[in-house]
Amino acid sequence: MELKTTPAASASAAASSPKLSGKVERFTESVIREMTRLAIQYGAVNLSQGFPDFPAPAEIKNAAKVAIDADINQYAITWGAKKLRDQIAANFQRTQGVFVDPECEITVCCGSTEAMLSAMMAIINPGDEAVVFEPFYENYGPDAILSGATPRFVKLHPPEWTFDPNELAAAFGPATKAIILNTPNNPTGKVFDRAELEAIRDLCLRWNTFAISDEIYEHMLYDGARHLSLATIDGMRDRTITINALSKTYSVTGWRVGWAIAAPEVTAAIRKVHDFVTVGAAAPLQEAGAVALQMPASYYETLAREYLVRRDRLLGILGSAGFRCFKPRGAYYIMTDISAFGFPDDVAFAQYLVKEIGVAAVPGSSFYRHPADGRTHLRFTFCKKESTFQAAAERLVKLRAQS
Ligand SMILES: Cc1ncc(COP(=O)(O)O)c(C=O)c1O
Repeated sequence: MELKTTPAASASAAASSPKLSGKVERFTESVIREMTRLAIQYGAVNLSQGFPDFPAPAEIKNAAKVAIDADINQYAITWGAKKLRDQIAANFQRTQGVFVDPECEITVCCGSTEAMLSAMMAIINPGDEAVVFEPFYENYGPDAILSGATPRFVKLHPPEWTFDPNELAAAFGPATKAIILNTPNNPTGKVFDRAELEAIRDLCLRWNTFAISDEIYEHMLYDGARHLSLATIDGMRDRTITINALSKTYSVTGWRVGWAIAAPEVTAAIRKVHDFVTVGAAAPLQEAGAVALQMPASYYETLAREYLVRRDRLLGILGSAGFRCFKPRGAYYIMTDISAFGFPDDVAFAQYLVKEIGVAAVPGSSFYRHPADGRTHLRFTFCKKESTFQAAAERLVKLRAQS
């Protein structure tokens, strides 16, 4: 996804065509999803888009089948089936110790993607600004444009992807309506610690802003990293909108079930947007979601352990192929430095990799406001099965031989 500074006049639009939305002209299609299409076109091993290529848990799939057979096939309550909301609340209490009222503080949406956009549309007014850490998950750019927020980007600096508190403070001001946080982070693998969250909290309180915290990778943690929800930080419970989903934790990215947790008056606004945008998420899959959220603790331990093995496997493969890797402590991506390969930029290298070597990855520029800032980076995902890693390793040998 590329953000454009000014609405480009579409040269191709015929004089007689009605004008398209100026908002839509300000961003391009998703680069991540485009890389998946290129992977299919060139028969490449797809290490670009973050969807698991291994099966979802049998219990959860069975629960969906049972729900369909039980004829839970009509609209669920627009803001989410009660069973699922109850389990989301129980889960937040269990994992983070935060009590939320499922009746008035949870909105179930079509994936966290819709939850994020509905949340932004619920709080943004013309002239509002949203602080976004950069590199950022590429959806946040169009989310800002579509909701009408002006993004203010704050750099996460490699190798640890830390932010400079002064740079963060400088991004806040009277026009700031929200900060968008993603922890554990895509694409960097950073897990924000308590001190960092408290620094964010101080600014939210000082400027009276919301925080929208995308915590979709909460269970993918390595090397002793701990996930702390921003809502647990003193003073943040009622100004944080916590976004999460079934997608990653239960390997069901295609189900499109996510949610937003927020204080009652914020939830009321999110529910209004959500209702008129989608009416509701798939009813039988919400039933299955309630089952998923009751998985035993061992499910999450195994998930994290297996992802650790996958992370180390991909670190090994990329390292042997000559990539400099930033070791992630969370989520399921590896950011790499590709300077050593001598390509003009990340896009040229990603194109070469997918077409000539047969491995798809995401150009780093798609995570930055200014493409030049990401030109030495490429992101790989490790939510893949062993045979996929094996195939990638075999193909990347060619890269080593050629460099
Ligand atoms: C940080 C982040 N948020 C949200 C999403 C999308 O989640 P969902 O499938 O629930 O819409 C992704 C998917 O890659 C992601 O990386």
